Amino acid sequence: MTAFSESADPHRQHERCVTIDLGSRSYPVILSDAWDSGQPQNLLQQHVKDRPVAIVSNDTVWPLYGETLLQAVKKAGPSHCSWHVLPDGENHKTPAQWLAILDHLANNGLTRDGVLLALGGGVVCDMTGFAAASWMRGIPFIQVPTTLLAQVDASVGGKTGINHLAGKNLIGAFHQPVAVLVNTRVLTTLPEREFRSGLAEAVKYGLIQSAPFVDWMLRNRRNLLHREPGVLNQLVQQCCQFKAHIVREDETEQGRRAVLNLGHTFGHAIENLGHYRTLLHGEAVAIGMVMAATLSEHLGLARPGLGKKVAGIMQALGLPSDFSSLPAGIDIEADEYTPEALIQRMRLDKKVSHGRHRLILLKELGQADMVDGVTEADLRTVLQAFCA
Ligand code: NAD
Ligand code: GLY
Repeated sequence: MTAFSESADPHRQHERCVTIDLGSRSYPVILSDAWDSGQPQNLLQQHVKDRPVAIVSNDTVWPLYGETLLQAVKKAGPSHCSWHVLPDGENHKTPAQWLAILDHLANNGLTRDGVLLALGGGVVCDMTGFAAASWMRGIPFIQVPTTLLAQVDASVGGKTGINHLAGKNLIGAFHQPVAVLVNTRVLTTLPEREFRSGLAEAVKYGLIQSAPFVDWMLRNRRNLLHREPGVLNQLVQQCCQFKAHIVREDETEQGRRAVLNLGHTFGHAIENLGHYRTLLHGEAVAIGMVMAATLSEHLGLARPGLGKKVAGIMQALGLPSDFSSLPAGIDIEADEYTPEALIQRMRLDKKVSHGRHRLILLKELGQADMVDGVTEADLRTVLQAFCA
């Protein structure tokens, strides 16, 4: 377990580094305000010098940060540099768009000594990572995450993939990046809902393994919600440390890493019901974490009141805690979000056997565990309260 310490000076402006310790495949997560100097530039030189490079981004992020990254990459001396811009959105995390990335690599002669860079949120990071995992049986890639969610979670740990019509992230591979370059300054342009969605994945680490970290986030929520740079850097560094610890222990999710899926089986079902266009990933996971805590209570694994406590944490961070507290302007068809519809989607979430579900549940704040054999009758009872 990684201890949470508040001692780090939030005003330190110099670079921060977290190492993802995986033996010969270890890599650094560098937090820095620049790509063209310091450690980020050193890493670019190490990995792209004299090699063909392709940057993958999307049509929202590329106009904002593409040119800056391109200049930093060119400064590092690649033999050739091209870029591929995807349409923005989770509904484009598809086999067709993944294939379009591979077509780009083929058309630009990216050989096995090539390197990919992902510039974007979790969607671009996951898709680029999967393209890197599959192109010529695996080439190196660098993550340059631009959403809070991608900086605290998606860019670190090597899970890559795309969606299948039947469900989220059903096609994928474990493939670790060679470096992660985090620049929290890019978060200034992130829309408010997207930013809060990232806070959901951040608070997840506290819920599963550190109640003091949840407490720290709540005490600092004003600064966090105002995106104060020092506090943001502290948040991202701490989350990457939590994730580094879990990934080192269980890289390919044979056991402990599964706790990172707290709220995700519910969340994926919620996202799928909205065709990935209604609730954002972090919003769906926020509701999913409240569902998981409520189910823990229902099964007698947690003290009464845990569900309400977790709901209060989500509300304090500006996140939805159920279907009646969705962000302004988001409407759902209540008769589509039924316990039956959610359970049907949950069956596809890679963790079901003989009609019984394997879920990550909470024993208390800061303590999550994998629980096997949850029945659909129990799920139905708990989901009724959310769907009424
Ligand atoms: P996203 O990638 O769709 O980004 C959210 C939105 O913000 C998009 O419209 C994007 O274009 C825009 N954006 C990105 N950076 C911006 C910036 N700096 N300024 C302005 N706009 C910006 O969504 P996300 O929340 O980053 O990621 C969600 C995805 O991540 C899901 O597909 C999920 O499955 C995946 N994920 C993967 C892991 C993993 O371990 N691999 C973990 C968590 C989530
Ligand atoms: N986001 C879950 C994981 O990386 O395992």
